[in-house]
Amino acid sequence: MPLWTGRFKKSLDSKTNDFNSSISFDSRMYAQDIKGSVAHATMLGKQGIIAGEESEKIVKNLKEILADLDEGRLEFDMTAEDIHTFVEGELTKRIGDSGKRLHTARSRNDQVALDFKLYLIDQYERISGAVTELIEAILGKAEENYDAVMPGYTHLQRAQPITFGHHLMAYASMFSRDLDRLSDWLERTRVSPLGSGALAGTTYPLDREYAASLLGLGGRVTDNSLDGVSDRDYALELLSVLSIIMVHLSRFSEEIIMWCSWEFKFIELDDAFSTGSSIMPQKKNPDIAELVRGKSGRVFGDLQTLLTVMKGLPLAYNKDMQEDKEAVFDALDTALMCIETFTPMLATATVLPENMRRAAAKGFINATDAADYLVYKGLPFRDAYKATGQLVALCIDKELTLETLPISEYKAVCELFDEDVYAAIDLDECVKKRTVKGGPSPECVISEIKNMRRRLGL
Ligand code: ARG
Repeated sequence: MPLWTGRFKKSLDSKTNDFNSSISFDSRMYAQDIKGSVAHATMLGKQGIIAGEESEKIVKNLKEILADLDEGRLEFDMTAEDIHTFVEGELTKRIGDSGKRLHTARSRNDQVALDFKLYLIDQYERISGAVTELIEAILGKAEENYDAVMPGYTHLQRAQPITFGHHLMAYASMFSRDLDRLSDWLERTRVSPLGSGALAGTTYPLDREYAASLLGLGGRVTDNSLDGVSDRDYALELLSVLSIIMVHLSRFSEEIIMWCSWEFKFIELDDAFSTGSSIMPQKKNPDIAELVRGKSGRVFGDLQTLLTVMKGLPLAYNKDMQEDKEAVFDALDTALMCIETFTPMLATATVLPENMRRAAAKGFINATDAADYLVYKGLPFRDAYKATGQLVALCIDKELTLETLPISEYKAVCELFDEDVYAAIDLDECVKKRTVKGGPSPECVISEIKNMRRRLGL
């Protein structure tokens, strides 16, 4: 039975009931719904709005309902309008009139806003834990490969030498910002809307702060009742953070897919995280990374869904807002699944540093270092750049590299070149010299890793 039958002469058309109902997806918030009701009933009792013994009876029975649901002794009634209706109905079934007093000074509008917030807050540890584990896996791989020379790219063209450790740590930086974003989000979200009523608060002498402290929200309550029930910023923000996490995961996946190709062969994924082809026996495909890249689109779609649902809504609550949950739950489930699968895939991948070095030896990625050599000898950078460009053209012509080009050719282009140029353009040297803070030298990578470990307590 719906909670609102008073003025109606007919019951709801059955297809319409299914259309209107949200229990198929909001039942996952049952624990938070009950927790919210326990706090509300306790506060009503303390304020003398309902009798003390009535409040105690409600709380005791709500806790029993929670245990029954947890342990599978009680099943959801899928014809109920939503989880709030179901829990209140079950309570009333158990304790009669006392159950009917629970909804005093409350609306489903402030109730659902609270439940949704509590549910999302409860996911915080799991998401940030998953991101932290991912960072740990990255740190581990970066440590093993802190001095593995590889070509760094711009425009996907070989550009300058870096270390694989440094490349990986770029991702650690991204994911650590995601952790910051998550904790900022948590702080802003931990504010109770309970007491906002349907839209205009209530005439009862509530102690909103007390209920908010019972809920573990540090006694913080929303400032405005209209905003309290119509705000879904916390859902939009979480979807935004999850979307950014997915952008990072998707870029990382894209690189892994490239690195696994025969054209690169910088890494090899473990068999447990790769798949084969039904027709081509030689194939070992990076499906997991591809799926993560693909699923990012889904999460961005969820963000788009809620932005679009919210953008034209007048204050305060509108039923459109029931569409918030599926989008957020889908994004949460998807992002978590992606992070939790990606992490072991990365941790078990084999890195092939000799292939990285081979790739680094091609493409003249030490040309900037040859130009810098001339700058250190006093030539203005623009002239040094031009001279080195001529050398590269010469090498391409003669099918040589800067390492194998004879010194006489160097000198013909610029008198300032000497035998020590070969040491200056040695790939290991080129990387070692890049010691500027945040640079790719093995020494910098080690301190980057140390700093991150210290900052995250890992
Ligand atoms: N199932 C609803 C939702 O998820 C709960 C709030 C219903 N409030 C109302 N006035 N119809 O948004």
